[in-house]
Amino acid sequence: MKTRFTELIGIEYPIMCGGMFQVGRAELCAAVSEAGGLGTITSATQGTAENLRKEIRKVKELTNKPFAVNLSLFPSARPIPNDDYIEVLIDEGVKVVETSGQSPETVMKSLKDGGCIVIHKVPGVKYAKKAESVGVDAVSVVGFETGGHPGMEDIGSLLLTKLVSQNVKIPVLGGGGFGDGHGLVAAIALGAEGIVMGTRFMAVKESIVHDNVKQWMVNADEYQSVIVQKSISSPNRVALNEVSKQVLAMEEQGASFEELLPLITGSRTNQVYFEGDVNGGIWSCGQVVGLIEDIPSTKELMMRMIKEAQQSCQFVNNAFAD
Ligand SMILES: Cc1cc2nc3c(=O)[nH]c(=O)nc-3n(C[C@H](O)[C@H](O)[C@H](O)COP(=O)(O)O)c2cc1C
Repeated sequence: MKTRFTELIGIEYPIMCGGMFQVGRAELCAAVSEAGGLGTITSATQGTAENLRKEIRKVKELTNKPFAVNLSLFPSARPIPNDDYIEVLIDEGVKVVETSGQSPETVMKSLKDGGCIVIHKVPGVKYAKKAESVGVDAVSVVGFETGGHPGMEDIGSLLLTKLVSQNVKIPVLGGGGFGDGHGLVAAIALGAEGIVMGTRFMAVKESIVHDNVKQWMVNADEYQSVIVQKSISSPNRVALNEVSKQVLAMEEQGASFEELLPLITGSRTNQVYFEGDVNGGIWSCGQVVGLIEDIPSTKELMMRMIKEAQQSCQFVNNAFAD
């Protein structure tokens, strides 16, 4: 396939696995890149610059294809050493950086001086225009359906993909609710040059999350995710489970961040991912979980998506034939 995104990055298929805190590690990242997409490791997961360096080297041992490092620009209670991360990723020759959380303006100079291609996540048109104006190379859309942090404004991915695509000149990736080849074609039909996926890549063989979590995802339908933390201006789409229901109930009662913290803390999320207690804490999961029916290898998933995309194009062509 050829789009401006595949040309920009030098990859075969316009499918990116976005950064995923705790989930976006070397094995999954390399598997996506090896299969022709763009894999990502998440710097914030690594905790220190030296750990990030090790993880980058691990990816480089597994693939010599392009991959990305996600930099979190979200406000954080514990300071994130992004300057150190940037130094390391440039030093290690990482070609692509995905930024999210707030405008990447403050990091653009160092990333560009280091020769990086920057893809920034945007929950709305105004953010996309701003990102373009500060020199990012591509933007990815964060629609309402998205697993992880959507915007505050609840705009669906379909409309946002179209609106962002018609409002910026740089390549756009549709994001939020994409999980198969039909979605890929839909995003391209709306003007995007590819898609970014998260939730679907949690349930592949190379993802480190516990098998219980993957099986929960296979069994789940599209109703089994919910947005929590909107009352504290940090919306997070997560799996619908005992803890997320409790968080929502507390938010309705006006709970503060400090009161919610024992439930939304990352250590409980780790209990889910690594011990398989699916009700142990909140964990990011998009509505597209309703599409997940199996746990393929990354390569199988990607090849299937390309086949589906081709069938989808055929279907559309037939529909428009006289
Ligand atoms: C478990 C999980 C963790 C995520 N963590 C991050 C993150 O740390 N940084 C980030 O920019 N996006 C994060 N995301 C968002 C993804 O990179 C991607 O944009 C999103 O999942 C796309 O929507 P989808 O889940 O509907 O495919 C996360 C998503 C999931 C499912």
